[in-house]
Amino acid sequence: MRVVTTIQALAEEINAAKQAHQTIGLVPTMGYLHEGHLTLAQTARAENDVVVMSIFVNPTQFGPNEDFESYPRDLPRDTALAQSVGVDIMFAPSVEEMYPHDGGIRIQAGEQATILCGASRPGHFDGVLQIVSKLFHLAQPTRAYFGQKDAQQVAIIATMVRDFNFPLEIRVVPIVREEDGLAKSSRNVYLSETERQEAPAIYEALQLARDSFLANGDAVRALAKAKAHIHARTHGQIDYIQILAYPDLTPVTATTQQALLAAAVYIGKTRLIDNCIFTVK
Ligand code: PAJ
Repeated sequence: MRVVTTIQALAEEINAAKQAHQTIGLVPTMGYLHEGHLTLAQTARAENDVVVMSIFVNPTQFGPNEDFESYPRDLPRDTALAQSVGVDIMFAPSVEEMYPHDGGIRIQAGEQATILCGASRPGHFDGVLQIVSKLFHLAQPTRAYFGQKDAQQVAIIATMVRDFNFPLEIRVVPIVREEDGLAKSSRNVYLSETERQEAPAIYEALQLARDSFLANGDAVRALAKAKAHIHARTHGQIDYIQILAYPDLTPVTATTQQALLAAAVYIGKTRLIDNCIFTVK
């Protein structure tokens, strides 16, 4: 595996791959890798000649009071893990390398970014689209890999790819969980021991709500059950828990086929997200 930190060095790798007519799989991450990220890389490994993983804690997607500074970072550990799953090129640029200029031009996410995480994190998805579009231009992937863990993120990125004709395929990889059901996340390291014990209640609540919704089609009742479970089992604060049509993220109607049940819960100071996507009919 080659670790490159400059756009120039990445360009040389990408040009060589393109000249050899190799397919490129891109796995964008913010590092502090866990099995979720590694599953994306393994999927990319199985489907492409060359696998590029980026590790970049992107400042433009963090709000002023969010955890950009304290976000966990460990490049030596990430390098070893990425190598172990067959990543060919790791791109780990500095903030200065990625953002040397600011001409003030922004990509603005649409309606899909006004709800769920977008409602409590204004500008977050604009920052995600900014970095992801730059990475798409730099790595020129045949396929780009994202986790269903961030279902709203991947829905918004897929919209950008469609509307702006990025010549690549978006691949979505299912959520990887701990044994007790907690969705793997780099932010899980923030949890105290008690908080860690409470955190699986989020996924339990999602399952309760899904089963209830499938049994009687009553979203209000299903969500009430989920909220009650979280309140009973955790000291957490619910940011949102919602059922929406997937992938449009519009309200569920009688004709909805796929639904997204998504939650964000503060367990202590840590904001955890989780979701499940299921077939309604
Ligand atoms: P990050 O949170 O590091 O996640 C990188 C990728 O890993 C995302 O596509 C995310 O959905 C996926 N992922 C995280 N946890 C997962 C899990 N438990 N199971 C499956 N996939 C999981 O998402 C970002 O970084 C950034 O917003 C990024 C897209 C890199 C842009 O900066």
